[in-house]
Amino acid sequence: MPATLIALVGPTGAQTAQAVPAAPLPAAALPALPSSVALAYIAAAILFILAAAGLSRHETSAAGNIAGAIGMGVAVAAAIGMALTSDPGQGVVVTAVLIALALGLGAAIGMTLARRVAMTGMPQLIAVLNGLVGLAAVIVGLNSYASPEPAAEALGAFHLGEVYLGVLVGAVTFTGSILAALKLAGRVPGRPITLPGRNLLNLAALLVCLALLVAFLLLPEGSPAAWACLAAMTIIALLLGVHLVVAIGGGDMPVVVSIMNSYSGWASALTGFTINNDLLIITGALVGSSGAYLSYLMCQAMNRSFASVILGGFGTEGSSAPAGGQDGPIDEVDAASVAHLLQSARRVVITPGYGMAVAQAQYPVATLTQMLQAEGVEVTFGIHPVAGRLPGHMNVLLAEAKVPYDVVLEMDEVNDDFGEVDVVLIIGANDTVNPAAEEPGSPIAGMPVLRVWEARRVVVFKRSMAAGYAGVQNPLFFRENTSMLFGDAKETVEAIIRALE
Ligand code: TAP
Repeated sequence: MPATLIALVGPTGAQTAQAVPAAPLPAAALPALPSSVALAYIAAAILFILAAAGLSRHETSAAGNIAGAIGMGVAVAAAIGMALTSDPGQGVVVTAVLIALALGLGAAIGMTLARRVAMTGMPQLIAVLNGLVGLAAVIVGLNSYASPEPAAEALGAFHLGEVYLGVLVGAVTFTGSILAALKLAGRVPGRPITLPGRNLLNLAALLVCLALLVAFLLLPEGSPAAWACLAAMTIIALLLGVHLVVAIGGGDMPVVVSIMNSYSGWASALTGFTINNDLLIITGALVGSSGAYLSYLMCQAMNRSFASVILGGFGTEGSSAPAGGQDGPIDEVDAASVAHLLQSARRVVITPGYGMAVAQAQYPVATLTQMLQAEGVEVTFGIHPVAGRLPGHMNVLLAEAKVPYDVVLEMDEVNDDFGEVDVVLIIGANDTVNPAAEEPGSPIAGMPVLRVWEARRVVVFKRSMAAGYAGVQNPLFFRENTSMLFGDAKETVEAIIRALE
């Protein structure tokens, strides 16, 4: 194995070599990577790692994004260079035209989607993109089996295993992600649909895929029987993706999207092995591991176990049942009285949620914050880890509206201080401030929430008495120190600004 390749692939490459001790790779079997391409791959891999690190903090997120974009530019340029300089068997011009067509089409679709998609539609878009990565893994895997490269042929059973697993993970990711996108977009009912014995069905599907793998490896390569095994597994995996996601309720869908993101990463990494592309292996592993970690963090923030999300069925019973204390009179207020309340406050905390994203209220919220600060009021934001529909959703919106990072605090940084707060403004949040989470037996029992009710006064900005995403009634609305300000959050915040002026 060329030194550059070992340096690039590191432990993964070592694994590749160890996995086939009986048939040591002939040095000539793997084509040497041109050193310029190897260098570009190393640069791109480093930029991707810097991007992931940068995106983990507000202050460095823009730089992280730029690092990722440059890394992707370098990777695409290197891949094109490789394709043009290696012998494609069809002439450089044809290859260049095909690449230009693919690039043009991809860029046009990407730019149109980026322009059109609203922030609230971002989870669906990510789900669709994950699905496309899965589909690409299936196509590349099947193509690689149909016309293996000389280098891949030398890998024998190991390569066949990569192809099989790449197609398997890619197919599950494809249908699972598309169904998740349809559920998120409301095109398919969000409630979990569970077949009897669903976990046994999933287990049986996996066991059949395993048996097909053994047969696939033992049968002569390329024989109709081997193709039949591959095709049967692909169909089972496509159905498995649907079956896994259909059993999961809408409330868990963002976690599913994150899990599918992780799967798409692993599918890419397996594809990287299949087509012998080290950068794809590194990038796929980065996406796969960060997606898995993000899913774990989201589960923690909702106090759900990873297994309970994956196994599905949550919300089949009881989750829309009202939690205690939801009946009784409410105190409805208007914008002018909230303005008056704020004028006499010394300390205000704003807890935004999904409704702020829907209303695009972050801009007037930023203006209101400045106005109050100018009057000497201490204003901070308390952000729940799963507020909105994406990790960091609220942070992105507030950054967009130029709210300074230092007043945007995490839930744990504000939760012990609500007793000292004069007014809490809940802008389109619901589940994340629901005291029912502290009641045993509630469908969201145990989910950590912002303890806003400990403040002197609470004002809830929403349009109706409707429940939040988890379908659980919120007893906060009926508490003595809570007032309801009904209406679109952008309009009501703007009305408060006018009243303050
Ligand atoms: P939600 O519980 O979804 O509540 C949002 C509230 O906003 C609704 O009650 C809605 O009430 C109100 N609203 C909608 N449009 C509005 C508008 N134009 N103006 C004013 N209010 C509006 O939001 P949350 O507190 O942010 O909680 C997030 C939920 O998503 C949690 O259940 C969480 O578990 C789930 N989730 C999130 C994630 C991530 S990573 N963020 C991941 C998995 C699950 P009205 O209809 O009455 O206006």
